[in-house]
Amino acid sequence: MSIRLGVNIDHVATIRNARGGMHPDPVRAARQASEAGADGITAHLREDRRHITDDDIERLMAEIDLPLNFEMAATEEMLDIALRHKPHACCIVPEKREERTTEGGLDVAAGHNHIAPYVRQLSDAGIRVSLFIEPDPVQIAVAEAMGAAVIELHTGSYCEAVIRGDEEAVAGHLELLQLGATEAHKRGLEVHAGHGLTYDSVKPIAAIPEIIELNIGHFLIGEAIFRGLREAVGTMRGLIVEARSEA
Ligand code: PXP
Repeated sequence: MSIRLGVNIDHVATIRNARGGMHPDPVRAARQASEAGADGITAHLREDRRHITDDDIERLMAEIDLPLNFEMAATEEMLDIALRHKPHACCIVPEKREERTTEGGLDVAAGHNHIAPYVRQLSDAGIRVSLFIEPDPVQIAVAEAMGAAVIELHTGSYCEAVIRGDEEAVAGHLELLQLGATEAHKRGLEVHAGHGLTYDSVKPIAAIPEIIELNIGHFLIGEAIFRGLREAVGTMRGLIVEARSEA
């Protein structure tokens, strides 16, 4: 199975918002990512609008041909916005006001009664629903029971272990991610992965055959400062394809 690359353009908006105004424009970044071989665009509309804004979502839907993966917390406000725009996919993520980024996966087991109606309403509107979870068999079973089409496995702990150079932890996290991907695939769920991936950490994740989409943002936008977004995305795409063909 081939593997798709979703480029998360949130942090183009972070830089824009540091000064207000229009520059740099995340929609222009989405266009460049598309030209560089991205298969989809990911954007997280947070409750506090710290990066992506409602207008960005509107423009991404109107101006970009690639499928939009709309990351959202399970709130009535976000549900209304998703149902109004009907993006290709919605990835439900946990969201805490004080966090810097999405820390840890969604606890779909503990939050079942709250999250299940969101999965149902989004799915009924024809949107592919993804749940951002840890590679935990209980979370995977509950995601399936809820009727989600997709799970996205949180790669944050694995990526932190790569940065620390802790080989034992890297091997442990990789094993959990592989087991989680196999289990989810067996249950008929489509498997994606993301969070914290870089050129140094992407290949072992891309080599997991059940994973068919990676969503990558912060590293690519940071790298684009030094080599431009097209080249940053193109290099990532190359590494992913290479890992897949070696697997
Ligand atoms: N996938 C999900 C569900 C996310 O919440 C994020 C961060 O917004 C990403 C992928 C991308 O993570 P990063 O920006 O660290 O590459």
